[in-house]
Amino acid sequence: MKILVTGGAGFIGSNFIYHMLSEHPDYDIVCLDALTYAGNLHTLEPALKNSRFKFVKGDITDRNAVFELFKNEKFDTVVNFAAESHVDRSINDPAIFLSTNVMGTQVLLDACREFGVSRFHQISTDEVYGDLPLDRPDLFFTEETPIHASSPYSASKAGADLLVLAYYRTYGLPVTVSRCSNNYGPYHFPEKLIPLIIVNLLHDKPIPVYGTGENIRDWLYVEDHCKAVDLVIHKGTPGEVYNIGGHNEMKNIDVVKLVISELGKSEDLITYVKDRAGHDKRYAIDPTKIHRELGWSPEVKFKDGIKKTVQWYLDNREWWEDLISGEYINYYEKMYKNR
Ligand code: NAD
Ligand code: TYD
Repeated sequence: MKILVTGGAGFIGSNFIYHMLSEHPDYDIVCLDALTYAGNLHTLEPALKNSRFKFVKGDITDRNAVFELFKNEKFDTVVNFAAESHVDRSINDPAIFLSTNVMGTQVLLDACREFGVSRFHQISTDEVYGDLPLDRPDLFFTEETPIHASSPYSASKAGADLLVLAYYRTYGLPVTVSRCSNNYGPYHFPEKLIPLIIVNLLHDKPIPVYGTGENIRDWLYVEDHCKAVDLVIHKGTPGEVYNIGGHNEMKNIDVVKLVISELGKSEDLITYVKDRAGHDKRYAIDPTKIHRELGWSPEVKFKDGIKKTVQWYLDNREWWEDLISGEYINYYEKMYKNR
């Protein structure tokens, strides 16, 4: 079995590569990644020593390069993690989100058709469903919830999902889609909430909390997501969508306070800042389908996952200290100064 993992130098893709290399000792894995600001080859250093792993630098929107790669490698399965993934960046500059997330996905789908790939799996997000109200804790996203995206990021992911499912209906391409809630864990780029809190606290810098901090996210440890994707690509039914989430809803402010207490820092560092435009109120996944049909359940409790994550950032300072120099300083200034 030969698997193409796109976007494997990013957060979830890299965790998935490590999961697959250890769980499937007979599989070959090729990673295609453009190494944007979010991609980091250091993350893949241990994998690069494995003879069953190969890294190719390239852009999923580059049709010629993608077709050449498919022709040479003859993949059985393609798992598409490659994306522009940060909501705040999509609010400032939507164009690249359309290009990578929609057009890039189309290039991969065309290559799968052309070279007879037996499974294309699209890594999507619960954000395609829009949000749920804060005062209706009885409501959850199911696979039947209508697509109702709020941000340019989620709209581009929704566009890609529709395209993937259209390739199943129109051309019979064997596709699956998974829509996961917010992930956390090792190798998470420090522009996202949890690693940003950790990194700022370790520098005794303020923690910017958007709006009132009442917004709710449904957190899942990244390894649990990887296990779910592994199941879907092997046992999922073509043409189907699977929601992935572990009923672990937390208000942002409670996540911030938990990490502060984990690191023994002061809550005085909490700073309420201007809210995100169009800020989704609550995400909450109903994972009944993947549990019932594929037997998946999350294994890591949030309290334990946060402990492991904080410890990982303490043990791997050189990994993130590299990332928060250079371009990240400009990004942070632009995003948070005068907010
Ligand atoms: P990330 O931003 O950490 O990584 C994205 C990777 O894709 C990077 O390595 C980047 O270099 C690469 N990439 C970007 N544009 C590319 C292009 N044009 N060609 C090739 N490679 C390109 O993202 P992540 O958090 O690991 O998310 C991975 C996937 O999971 C995304 O599709 C995202 O929508 C989805 N997702 C993320 C979360 C989450 O909580 N992070 C939750 C649900 C779904
Ligand atoms: P984020 O990690 O960007 O994920 P997403 O927007 O895709 O859910 O943000 C998680 C939540 O944290 C979201 O409600 C926005 C909020 N947030 C802050 O309050 N401050 C921050 O600096 C960031 C990056 C996010």
